[in-house]
Amino acid sequence: MYFVANWKMYGNKADIDNSTSLISLSKLKKYKKHKIIYCPPYTLLKTFYDNIKKSNISIGAQNCHSNSDYGAFTGSINAKLIKSTGAKYIILGHSENRNTGESDLIINKKIHSAIKENLIIIYCIGEKLSEKRKKNTYKVLKKQLTKGLKGTKKFENIIIAYEPVWSIGTGIIPKNSELSRNINNIKKILAKLKKSINTKILYGGSVNPKNVRELAQIKEINGFLIGGASLSAKKFIDIIKKSIN
Ligand code: 13P
Repeated sequence: MYFVANWKMYGNKADIDNSTSLISLSKLKKYKKHKIIYCPPYTLLKTFYDNIKKSNISIGAQNCHSNSDYGAFTGSINAKLIKSTGAKYIILGHSENRNTGESDLIINKKIHSAIKENLIIIYCIGEKLSEKRKKNTYKVLKKQLTKGLKGTKKFENIIIAYEPVWSIGTGIIPKNSELSRNINNIKKILAKLKKSINTKILYGGSVNPKNVRELAQIKEINGFLIGGASLSAKKFIDIIKKSIN
């Protein structure tokens, strides 16, 4: 199972210190084979990496600039710079960035630049509430997968995170049956695109210690991308324990 903490635009040094309580958990036999990944803001990547480098925890970024080379892009960070911090993963295509105008084309460029740096990509896809209401979920997922992953070969370095936009930060989660259906559709679309059928698929959207036991029952889910609840080390540990027990 993958447990990915997406800290979004939160977090400081004290939060990192608290998070190191996960180091001992990650070393226990029971949890060793699972992946715990922290994605803090860019400014904390290096400090975070220095804190966890002797543990089983990995670090990831939350986005990058689409240009794979260095260049005159004020205020931006590309995959090369991210790699130099010790990060192993990168979240791309998050709906909070799509909402500010990030297109599938730009995301595809970012994916290619991350592949070039050998970063493992957590590619976020998911439908908005209006799209769900119009029964367009399948169409949206297919478009995001087809356009976002265009031209990718090294598919073993890509993880899909299914995050229904209406579920992010709202406390509302899909029914297990709906989640299974959408994840199976994602698998079918990937197979049609001739991408690996063994691709790991995570769920994200309001995951918390109270609902995770139920979500973890869904056999198609290979882990969780967690926003708000991951800022509390206690809740994050609780989520991991409840998913595995
Ligand atoms: P919440 O867990 O806060 O709903 O956020 C989910 C998310 O967007 C993770 O990427």
